[in-house]
Amino acid sequence: MRRQFSGLILAAVSLLLASSVFAQQKATGVLNADQGSVVINKHIYGHFAEHLGRCIYGGIWVGEDSSIPNINGYRTDVVNALKAIQIPNLRWPGGCFADEYHWKDGIGPRESRPKMINTHWGGVVEDNSFGTHEFLNFCELLGTEPYICGNVGSGSVEEMSKWVEYMTFDGESPMANLRKQNGREKPWKVTYFGVGNENWGCGGNMTAETYANEYRRYATYVRNYGENRVYKIAGGANVDDYNWTETLMRNVPHHMMRGISLHNYTFTNSWTNKGEATGFNEDDYFNVLFNGVRMDELIRRHTTIMDKYDPAKRISLVVDEWGAWYNVEKGTNPGFLYQQNTLRDAILAGVILNIFHDHAERVQIANLAQMVNVLQAIILTEEDKMVLTPTYHVFNMYKVHQDATRLPLTVTSHEYSKGRRKLNAISATASMNKEGKIHVSLVNVDPVNEIEFSCDLRGTSASKVGYAQVLTAKEIGSHNTFASPEVVKLADMKGAKIEKGILKVKLPAKSLVTVQLN
Ligand code: AHR
Repeated sequence: MRRQFSGLILAAVSLLLASSVFAQQKATGVLNADQGSVVINKHIYGHFAEHLGRCIYGGIWVGEDSSIPNINGYRTDVVNALKAIQIPNLRWPGGCFADEYHWKDGIGPRESRPKMINTHWGGVVEDNSFGTHEFLNFCELLGTEPYICGNVGSGSVEEMSKWVEYMTFDGESPMANLRKQNGREKPWKVTYFGVGNENWGCGGNMTAETYANEYRRYATYVRNYGENRVYKIAGGANVDDYNWTETLMRNVPHHMMRGISLHNYTFTNSWTNKGEATGFNEDDYFNVLFNGVRMDELIRRHTTIMDKYDPAKRISLVVDEWGAWYNVEKGTNPGFLYQQNTLRDAILAGVILNIFHDHAERVQIANLAQMVNVLQAIILTEEDKMVLTPTYHVFNMYKVHQDATRLPLTVTSHEYSKGRRKLNAISATASMNKEGKIHVSLVNVDPVNEIEFSCDLRGTSASKVGYAQVLTAKEIGSHNTFASPEVVKLADMKGAKIEKGILKVKLPAKSLVTVQLN
């Protein structure tokens, strides 16, 4: 009897404990739908494809003779998946690879193109079979804008200048004629052009002052031909190197550049302790998100410097490398940077995209690293198999925000914390597209608690939820594999509603939700 009694007490105590740990949380918000003024540039949804590991070769390009189904050499499955998420721009050929790439090696008959060693990424032989034509035609196939990164570190002003002429000059000229000889009569449209990459490091180990001078020289000869207008982007700072941004803003005449880049990766702990892509614990989950939101501080501080010199915000901050970087998957080439991608990465992507929206006045372009099989990839491939990662689904869910007007949305939620480190449990954003449709995206980063979210809708007569989508899974480490490709996928969500001007939606623990208001 006594044993039974103490058993009952134990059960009651554990129920009590469990209910306090797993309690449903409440959060509120206010959306001012008639106060949007800033457009979220679709180019913050850009991607990055470097000659690194299996990103280009095997991931995108298999060649026309491959047994893997392809469209003129590009994997059909990958092309279709990319088209579905409306990629606005694609950065190529690197990364560090860009500053040792010599474009003339990648044109003409493929069998006679010279080979080179890809010294940065595994020391493998690069046969140059994917070059300028293959890249620009791929962009045309996807309906995406190319963002070319030129070689400052080991190239020359003449080489860069001739590349631009080759790609964009419509008329009689040595480079335009060479292009025509290689089968392309009309020039391509190339708007986005980076003058070097990480020139403080793999792009030449320069000081900020040296690079600023080099930029002026190189950029002078990146010409506008015909109608083509080049949006020149200076190689920017590494993470919190504010001096780099300050030096460029001070030393480069503003009419010579439209953007300055910023690179910031997210590690579980640090560059020397990146952590694992799968099999992590909740502390690691928290660390990644906590380190990820540092993007906000970095953008703020670089923006403050840029504002001093360019209050009109003509020059944009181009976050052209961002994403999670973990230890490579065991058994893979360490130089290939292949990693799995979990629900944690999807949540990180949602939170960072929301930060970009918050800074839409200054952040006009961003590129997730990288598109296929490398770092925070949206697609993984293995021979003829392909799988979409959780991060892919975020880009699919968020495409509604491309070129939409950001709406002011404030959210009050509990905090998800570890010791003294805290994160707001909800990261949120809202926008109105050209058709007047409002989309609200909410990320519940709390891995345990569901949140009942009520949002006061002001300045809109929206009375119905058009649709609601959710991305979540059983575990923070859930991921898709070739054997089980749909463990983490987008699903329709029931239950979201508008009642008397209040949007009500339940956010599952560790989830992303997008609601359309009609
Ligand atoms: O994306 C991988 C590498 O990270 C890029 O080549 C380089 O620019 C950065 O350091």
